[in-house]
Amino acid sequence: MTLSNLGKPTAETCILVTGGAGYIGSHTCVELLNGGYKVVVLDDLSNSSAVCLERVRKITACEPEQLIFFEGSILDEALLNHIFTQHTIDAIIHFAGYKAVGESTEKPLEYYWNNFAGTLVLCKVAREHQVNNLVFSSSATVYGDPETIPLSEDCPKGTPTNPYGHTKSMIEQVLFDLHASDPHGCIVLLRYFNPIGAHVSGLIGEDPKGIPNNLVPYVAQVAVGKREHVGVFGDDYPTTDGTGVRDYIHVVDLARGHVKALEWMANTDKACVEVFNLGTGTGSSVLEVIKAYEQACGKPIPYRVQPRRAGDIAVSYASCEKALRVLGWEASFDLVRMCEDSWRWQSNNPDGYR
Ligand code: NAD
Ligand code: UFG
Repeated sequence: MTLSNLGKPTAETCILVTGGAGYIGSHTCVELLNGGYKVVVLDDLSNSSAVCLERVRKITACEPEQLIFFEGSILDEALLNHIFTQHTIDAIIHFAGYKAVGESTEKPLEYYWNNFAGTLVLCKVAREHQVNNLVFSSSATVYGDPETIPLSEDCPKGTPTNPYGHTKSMIEQVLFDLHASDPHGCIVLLRYFNPIGAHVSGLIGEDPKGIPNNLVPYVAQVAVGKREHVGVFGDDYPTTDGTGVRDYIHVVDLARGHVKALEWMANTDKACVEVFNLGTGTGSSVLEVIKAYEQACGKPIPYRVQPRRAGDIAVSYASCEKALRVLGWEASFDLVRMCEDSWRWQSNNPDGYR
């Protein structure tokens, strides 16, 4: 449980990854295992498959004991106690949660219960076992509809437009309060912009259930012939081509940001809570994404302009200066590479892990 273990991992330096069978979690497991960490995954498989972790084993060729999987929920206090008793956890990377923005407005209780209450249970049990180092998956959604762009960490938080966004903002507040009341260890809040892409092996990637909510998984399904055309949600935004602009970041770059956060914790000599944006610092429009995907897959992607989607903002992209200055991290992959890796995953696995 020492911070210094995190910087120079041995085969015993152990990270609990909640939600580790999911999209970002599985890519982070690969980077952790490649970096020499031992990984314990806790995932209830509510939005993922155990097959994904088998693929992580294949990619990393890890020893069986380097990647341990518990199927269960962060809401299960007894299971958490068991995990913290059985394994000496040096830090937690907390991905577990539901993430569908639209669904969160239809099922707010489920979202507050799973994401918010689940995090309270996790933090309570972790503190009881003196595990105080935590990296949390926050989101650019906490900035709301921003007044200034690019978004830096000191921009004021906005009002989220949906329960999912509220859970992220509320959990951030809980973590600040927890640190203030009992300043032990390091808490890092990572505000992700728009993660896309897949591992270069084509073995792991994003596997949405049903109709994809997010742009790139939808574009990928059109490219592979599962859907007819992309609906472009509005072309009358105040942007260069009228479509929404976002900061798309390769999921492998994002995963590496988590490893950098652990290394930084190890070299930080005092307890802390810090926020970092993880993006590329570049905005791309919906039409630019479609064009990049066409280049990656070598075929046209039909699209139709539709009305704006409720709750969407015009433009969001990050200033990632703090992550570079403090963590020594910056994104390395461009949009075409993100689309190429997405396409490799999608075309090799048209039905995801099924
Ligand atoms: P994902 O759905 O692929 O992964 C989340 C994982 O958590 C899934 O494997 C799911 O089965 C698991 N899970 C859900 N509830 C659980 C519970 N109670 N106990 C244990 N496991 C549980 O999503 P993702 O895209 O990998 O996102 C990971 C995290 O990053 C989430 O917290 C998400 O809100 C956050 N985030 C995602 C994005 C994005 O665009 N993908 C953007 C910003 C933040
Ligand atoms: N879009 C389309 N058609 C689609 C889907 C999306 O035109 O079928 C547009 C949207 O209007 C937006 C852009 O593509 O302009 C990106 O939309 P996404 O749904 O892919 O991503 P969002 O920026 O809306 O939201 C995502 C996650 C949130 C997270 C946020 C910031 O879904 O959970 O990024 O990290 F909070």
